[in-house]
Amino acid sequence: MVGLTAWQALRERANLEPGEKVFVPAGSGGIGTFAIQLAKHLGAHVGTTTSTINVTLVRDLGADEVVDYMQDTFDTVLRDYDVVLGTLRGDVIEQSVGILKPGGRIVSLVGPLDPAFARARKLNGLLALVFGWMSRKIRRLAKQRGLAYSFLFVRPDGAQLAEIAALLESGRIRPVIDRVFPFDQAHAALVHLGKGRARGKVVVQVKPD
Ligand SMILES: NC(=O)c1ccc[n+]([C@@H]2O[C@H](COP(=O)([O-])OP(=O)(O)OC[C@H]3O[C@@H](n4cnc5c(N)ncnc54)[C@H](OP(=O)(O)O)[C@@H]3O)[C@@H](O)[C@H]2O)c1
Repeated sequence: MVGLTAWQALRERANLEPGEKVFVPAGSGGIGTFAIQLAKHLGAHVGTTTSTINVTLVRDLGADEVVDYMQDTFDTVLRDYDVVLGTLRGDVIEQSVGILKPGGRIVSLVGPLDPAFARARKLNGLLALVFGWMSRKIRRLAKQRGLAYSFLFVRPDGAQLAEIAALLESGRIRPVIDRVFPFDQAHAALVHLGKGRARGKVVVQVKPD
C-alpha cells in the first residue's frame, strides 16, 4: 500500500526528477518511511518533519533536511521545493505553499478531494462540484502562486508492485516495521495505528511463521 501510494504520487503524478526537492511531511510514518527512500532512489533532495525521537530514523532513511517539529516550523526552514507530498491533515498543505517554487506540485494523499479526482473516477457531476467547493481554498492559493494541486487515491497496479518488489529485494528500499501483531490482535493493531505515532508500518500477521 505505502509502496504503491508513494510510487504513484512521486513518479506518476509529480513526475519527480533527479535533483528536484521534495518535502515529505511525517517522514517516520508508514508513507513517509517509504516515500523518503523512493525519492532518494529517484535522485531527489528530500526534506521531512518528525519529532525529536525519530530524527535519527529519517536521517538513516536518507532525508537531507530534517525539521524537528518540536523545535521548528518547517515553513521557516525549508525553501525552494519542487514537490510536496500531503501526508498530514490540518494546515500543513496550505502552509507548504510557501516553501514551493513557482511551477511546484502538491500531491495530497489526505485531501481535500478535487474535481479532477471526481472526473478521473467518472463520479457524478454533483460530486465534482462538492469536491471543487471542498478544495477551493488550496486550489486558489496554488493558482495565485503558479502551483499545481491534486488529490491522489492509490489504485492497484501489479506492474508497479513488481518494480517495487525488485527495489525491496535488492535492498535499495527497506521496509520499516513498527510492530507485528498476531491476527487475533488485529483490533489492538488498529488502535495502536490510530494513535498516529507508528514508526513505519504496523503489521497484522495472518499466518504464523
Ligand atoms: N490517498 C491514498 O491513497 C492514501 C494511501 C495511504 C495512506 N493515505 C493517508 O496518508 C496519511 C499518512 O499515512 P501513514 O500510514 O504514513 O500514517 P501513520 O503511519 O499513521 O503516521 C504516523 C507518523 O506520523 C508522524 N506524525 C504525526 N504527527 C506529525 C506531525 N505533526 N508532524 C510530523 N510527523 C507527524 C508520527 O511521528 P512522530 O511520532 O515523530 O510525530 C508517526 O511516525 C494517512 O492520513 C492515510 O490515511 C492515503
